[in-house]
Amino acid sequence: MKQIPIRKVEKNTPAIIAGCMRFADKSVEEVNTFIHGVLELGIDYFDHADIYGNGKCEELFGKAMKNDSSIDREKICIQSKCGVRLGIDFDLSKEHILNSVDGILDRLQTEYLDVLLLHRPDALFEPEEIAEALDKLESSGKVRTFGVSNFKPMQIELLKKCVKQELVINQLQFSLPVSNMIAGSMEMNMESPGSIDHDGNVLDYCRLHDMTIQAWSPFQMPAWQGVFLGNDRYADLNREIDILSEKYNVTPTAIASAWILRHPAKMQIVSGSTSLARMKEIASACDIELTREEWYKLYLSAGHLLP
Ligand SMILES: NC(=O)c1ccc[n+]([C@@H]2O[C@H](COP(=O)([O-])OP(=O)(O)OC[C@H]3O[C@@H](n4cnc5c(N)ncnc54)[C@H](OP(=O)(O)O)[C@@H]3O)[C@@H](O)[C@H]2O)c1
Repeated sequence: MKQIPIRKVEKNTPAIIAGCMRFADKSVEEVNTFIHGVLELGIDYFDHADIYGNGKCEELFGKAMKNDSSIDREKICIQSKCGVRLGIDFDLSKEHILNSVDGILDRLQTEYLDVLLLHRPDALFEPEEIAEALDKLESSGKVRTFGVSNFKPMQIELLKKCVKQELVINQLQFSLPVSNMIAGSMEMNMESPGSIDHDGNVLDYCRLHDMTIQAWSPFQMPAWQGVFLGNDRYADLNREIDILSEKYNVTPTAIASAWILRHPAKMQIVSGSTSLARMKEIASACDIELTREEWYKLYLSAGHLLP
């Protein structure tokens, strides 16, 4: 499995991460089989959040790990997130962060998290409070490394004013159809919708500050409308993907993954599949390097513009 080094994380950091958001309706046995299957593919990095399945996803994972001494906790990376309260609000208060991490550790049945991400910016966040929470989590050994998700550059700068730990990851939605963070810079000073700066140049910011981008929902259309692969709404894109699937002798899922991995920002892919066959397809993207022309052709066929 191709590795994408992340600053401050001293374990394997594979190009593909197993996202655990869709585990809620699985059994402990099914989750255990999935964990073993992805480990065999070299995917030993798991992404959680306290809200996935309202805690159920972490709980199932914890049980699946606990009952299995053949899985070495020290060898795998477990990442989770806090700061969203389902159906209520966003909460990055010190109290919420600390309580949330205790709940996460309890459900996952582990002593520590390899990585904690602040899930989304909270309009009422106070950097001083967050700094105190992160200090406590670090000094108690509950969390080893920190990052953010869905944060804009200036919000990260504001955090950095007080937070002394390095923030080494920004998890962001990114896929062929959802690539505002590329369109915003490419359609510079144009009047097209893509030229709108949605994110404060977060892609360039992360590259500049050596923050690893983790691309979430890599196969989804915008606004939770389902998978774009095989969808008629993206007929041109699917046509180009099929041509490349044939050329590289891999599935369309692998081509969509290879498109993300080809970007020099060296992003990780956070897959949400619970199917081992699909995870194998995604992993096969690590063996492909799309040409510059292929990369741009896919980008354009997803409906984006170039100046
Ligand atoms: N930071 C954030 O704000 C945030 C937000 C959302 C998600 N996430 C993280 O990102 C992970 C991935 O999110 P996601 O599940 O929305 O992303 P995804 O990997 O784009 O979607 C996976 C879903 O699409 C289905 N699917 C159907 N056809 C597919 C195909 N050809 N190729 C791939 N998948 C196909 C999968 O089904 P099968 O199971 O049958 O393969 C699965 O249900 C989550 O698990 C979570 O860890 C983070």
